[in-house]
Amino acid sequence: MRLKDKIAVITGAGQGMGRAMARMFAAEGATVVAVDVNLAAAEETMAGLAGAAHKVNIGDSAEVNALFETLLASYGRVDVLVNNAGVGSVDAFADISDETWTRVIGVNLTGAFYCARAAVRAMQKVGNKGSIINVASTAAASGDGPAHYCASKAALMGLTRSMAKELASHGIRVNTLVPGPTNTPMMAGIPQEWADAIIKGVPMGRMAEPEDIARGALFLASGDAGFVTGQNLAVNGGSAFL
Ligand SMILES: NC(=O)c1ccc[n+]([C@@H]2O[C@H](COP(=O)([O-])OP(=O)(O)OC[C@H]3O[C@@H](n4cnc5c(N)ncnc54)[C@H](O)[C@@H]3O)[C@@H](O)[C@H]2O)c1
Repeated sequence: MRLKDKIAVITGAGQGMGRAMARMFAAEGATVVAVDVNLAAAEETMAGLAGAAHKVNIGDSAEVNALFETLLASYGRVDVLVNNAGVGSVDAFADISDETWTRVIGVNLTGAFYCARAAVRAMQKVGNKGSIINVASTAAASGDGPAHYCASKAALMGLTRSMAKELASHGIRVNTLVPGPTNTPMMAGIPQEWADAIIKGVPMGRMAEPEDIARGALFLASGDAGFVTGQNLAVNGGSAFL
C-alpha cells in the first residue's frame, strides 16, 4: 500500500497508460482523481476504484483551476499529480498548421503547466509535500516523431528541472517519466509496418505494456522515490538511453 491515504490526480486517465496508473495507484491505497476530456471513459476507468472521474480539458486553465479548488474542498489536499494526458498528429514538418501546433503544445506542454501550477498552489496552500510526474516520450530525445510532439515532450523535461530545483525545499518532488513505444490506443492508430519497425528498435523485443509505465509512475509517486527529483525515468526496454 505504497500510496495509502494519498490523493492522486491522473490526467488522461480514460484509457491507455493513465487507466493503468489509476488502477495501480488505487490498488496501492490511493484515492484516484481520473481526469479526462472523455468523461465516460474516465468513469469506466474508475469503476470499482476509490475516487472519482472528472471531465476537464487540461488545456483550459479556468477548468483546471476549478478542478483543484473542488479537490481541495472535497479532500483537503492533493498529494500526487501525473501529467499524463497527451495528444499528437502525424504531420510532415512543413504541413504542421498553426492550429495543430497550438493544439499539441496547448495540451502536452501548456496543459501540463496549468495542472502543475494548480497542484503546487494547492500543495502550498495546505503545506503538504507532494510528487508531480510529467509524462514525456523517448521521441523528445530521439526525434522519432513529429516536431510539435517532440518539442512539447522535450519542453516538459525543462519544466520538470526548473520546478524540481525551486520546489525541493517545499518538499515537492518533480520528475519526468519517459515511456518508449507502448501498447495503448494511441499506438493502435498507427499502421502495422510502423509498429513492426518500432519493435525492431527495442532491444527487449516488444512494446511496453501500459502497466510497465504505470509501475514507473508508482515508483516516482511513492516514498520509494523520496530522494529522487528533477530526473528522467526512461521505461523503454533499452530503446534509448537518457
Ligand atoms: N503510447 C505510446 O507509445 C507513448 C510513448 C511515449 C509517450 N507517450 C505519452 O504517454 C501519455 C499517455 O499516452 P497513451 O498512449 O496512454 O495515450 P492515449 O491517447 O491512449 O490516451 C490519452 C488520454 O488523454 C486524454 N486527453 C487528451 N487530451 C486531453 C485534454 N486536453 N484534457 C484531458 N484529457 C485529455 C484522452 O481522452 C485519452 O483518454 C501521453 O502523454 C503520450 O504522449 C505515449
